[in-house]
Amino acid sequence: MLKYVKEKIGYIVLMLIGVFCVYFLFHTIFSYNVAHTNSNINKKEAEDKMMEESKYAGVGIATSIEEEKTYRSAIHYPVFESDAINAKINSYLDKAQGEFEKTLEGVNKQSLYNHPANFSLSFTIHQVVDGLYSIVFTEESYKEEDDVKLVGKVFVVDTNKGKFIQVDEILNNDVENRNDLYKVIKNSFLESKYKQYFLQNKWDEWVQQQDFSNMYLTDDSVVFLFDKNELTIGTAGMPEISIPIEQAASFFKKEWKEKLLSGKETEETKVAQDEKKQIEEEDKQVQKEEPSTGKRVALTFDDGPHATYTPEVLDLLKSYNAKATFFLLGSRVDFYPDIVQRIVNEGHEVGNHTWDHRDLTKLGRETIRHEINDTNEAIKKAAGVEPALFRPPYGAMNQRVMEVLDVPEISWTVDTLDWKYRDPEHILSIVKENTHDGSIILMHDIHGTSVEGLKLVLSYLEKEGYEFVTVTDL
Ligand code: NI
Repeated sequence: MLKYVKEKIGYIVLMLIGVFCVYFLFHTIFSYNVAHTNSNINKKEAEDKMMEESKYAGVGIATSIEEEKTYRSAIHYPVFESDAINAKINSYLDKAQGEFEKTLEGVNKQSLYNHPANFSLSFTIHQVVDGLYSIVFTEESYKEEDDVKLVGKVFVVDTNKGKFIQVDEILNNDVENRNDLYKVIKNSFLESKYKQYFLQNKWDEWVQQQDFSNMYLTDDSVVFLFDKNELTIGTAGMPEISIPIEQAASFFKKEWKEKLLSGKETEETKVAQDEKKQIEEEDKQVQKEEPSTGKRVALTFDDGPHATYTPEVLDLLKSYNAKATFFLLGSRVDFYPDIVQRIVNEGHEVGNHTWDHRDLTKLGRETIRHEINDTNEAIKKAAGVEPALFRPPYGAMNQRVMEVLDVPEISWTVDTLDWKYRDPEHILSIVKENTHDGSIILMHDIHGTSVEGLKLVLSYLEKEGYEFVTVTDL
């Protein structure tokens, strides 16, 4: 009898273990699928927002920034509705960055600690006609004490058809026509500010290649972009030779001639947009808060604005009646001016974080000035205010940058490393450990995990009795 019961119990235990195993297996697979699908949906939503909120119809901007001890990179790229276009742009980005990283393999680690390697990839966008854009990438890289390398790459994209336009589709194919175009480019070169740097032998080489893949269009010109050292001595940087569309159109196929000489934006729509902006500005009321005597902390958000995450950050701040400071990138402000307007309307402070997050200490005075002034102008155009603060990318400053700068440079005291770990709990633990009265906390409003982290941080610091103020009010 006892033996029988024992056997029975043995069977039951085995069965239970079996059932549990099966359940566990299913649960794991099922929840993995759910989590996986959710993150895909979130990613899709974020990408859709990138385009919806953008000033450029059907094109968003994505930014990825890394700041390691030995290696820094800032990459900005456009995002389109067409997956095929995005795939091709991504493969260009991967290839460019991969090639640079390969050159670092042989480099002494200690030397990289002393001089971090740097890879920057940014772009400008030009609307040619409705739905037709030129994307002009500039790749800037250096390692150790090498010269800065500058390389360009252009894409012409038809967003209506979801495809790239090749130069051969635009240019008339006959040889004579092409030879004439070379003459026009050369004449423009010799009339430009690059004249003194021009190298005839390099020009001869370039003409030999019979390759116009460095050509792009704007709404009123055709532009040829050259790499550093391609046709000139290095100090010339990357020459851009621009030819008015009326002059260049004779080299185009008939269809393109018609397309480019008509269909420009009318003055009327521009005026209407300006008027709308003015009305919005007049509506704006910034309230000044009474100063209090409690503990204060300044939350700061870098590298935005972002179409999805910045509005989420703003919603959260509002629910805690918190004010914060946003250090903006001009290149992103250009895409999302309405979000900048909202930041300012809701009483937050905006600071300048340069145009495209390059290490300013490696740039000449004129370029530094552009990085700062172009960003100021974009912010002013978007929200009617001039940033009164500046935060240098990677915290990198030198005498030259200081001389160009006419507003205070703002660093941080608590680095949440949110961009690196992408972990809300980790953000909270760093904040818990390091925040005091008067702290300046660094976060980035271009990551979903940072928004989640902000929720935890706001709740924790509020309980600790902190008031959230702008850097200026700290
Ligand atoms: Ni930054």
